[in-house]
Amino acid sequence: MKPELIFTGKGHAGTQATLAAEFTVHKLYEASDGDAFLKTLRDKVRGIASFGHLPVDGKLMDALPKLEIIANFGVGVDQINLDDAKKRKIIVTNTPDVLNECVADTAIALVLCALRKLPQSDAYLRAGSWAAKGPYPLATSLGGKTLGILGLGRIGEAIAKRAMAMGMKIRYHNRRKKDVPHPYDPDPVALAKNSDVLMIVTPGGAETKNLVGAKALDAVGPTGYVCNIARGSVIDEPVLLRYLQENKIAGAGLDVFADEPRVPPEFFKLENAVLFPHVGSATAETRKAMGDLQIENLRLHFSGKPVATRVV
Ligand code: 8YV
Repeated sequence: MKPELIFTGKGHAGTQATLAAEFTVHKLYEASDGDAFLKTLRDKVRGIASFGHLPVDGKLMDALPKLEIIANFGVGVDQINLDDAKKRKIIVTNTPDVLNECVADTAIALVLCALRKLPQSDAYLRAGSWAAKGPYPLATSLGGKTLGILGLGRIGEAIAKRAMAMGMKIRYHNRRKKDVPHPYDPDPVALAKNSDVLMIVTPGGAETKNLVGAKALDAVGPTGYVCNIARGSVIDEPVLLRYLQENKIAGAGLDVFADEPRVPPEFFKLENAVLFPHVGSATAETRKAMGDLQIENLRLHFSGKPVATRVV
């Protein structure tokens, strides 16, 4: 008998196909009546393969009393209630490390695009403005600027390495000081004050909600930039929008938003923001590696072995 799994969302096709071949899978996201769907599976489902934003909370866990493991596709597990899982002795796994390089590449792309205004200059050429109005206005250099990394974990370190190769200086803030050569700031506001570009790389969730609000953005100031490769929830989004509209900060590079995939349309009008549709880890190679790790965790668990990348 194959163990039974629930998919919470439509996710990476190759991963979902492999899982569907090895397990009996049920697609919660296709059910018109979620509660009725869960009732029919109540005593069958032993695993959740979490894809996307659907909350995996105590209510869902209680609807599946045989649940043993929640295997997430992604390093961030902010949509999973870890305390609820812990209380019920349900294992949670994620997909760390395999995406570090790709996400760091995207983070640097955000910095390049925000400071050098590369997407805007591309649009300028396509609109015929180069010939009609002359060269695109001068932008801002990266070299010599300070990148303030809020959340210097494994992805943050991969970003730092790249930024240093481009001549940037690094500072950081974490809850705990690390044994690294970069200067440490005691809080996000001090980091923003001491940096030209504030790069957000913290986990999402309740602990970091609106960590970057008006105070930190005031510290970024009219010549500073904010880039977010982490979670939209870490920035107070309406405040960020207003600061960009009023040029209270110089610009932003955003890969993540508070209510994805819905982005407030006021952002689309901004000349001083570059917006990516959460593509941090979105390459064929990296998404396959993430899926392989999610699959490995489920295989290990259901063959009675310890999982590879346990969160709780
Ligand atoms: C993915 C991510 O976009 O790993 C994460 O936490 O945010 C991204 O790599 C996401 O997990 C795919 O749905």
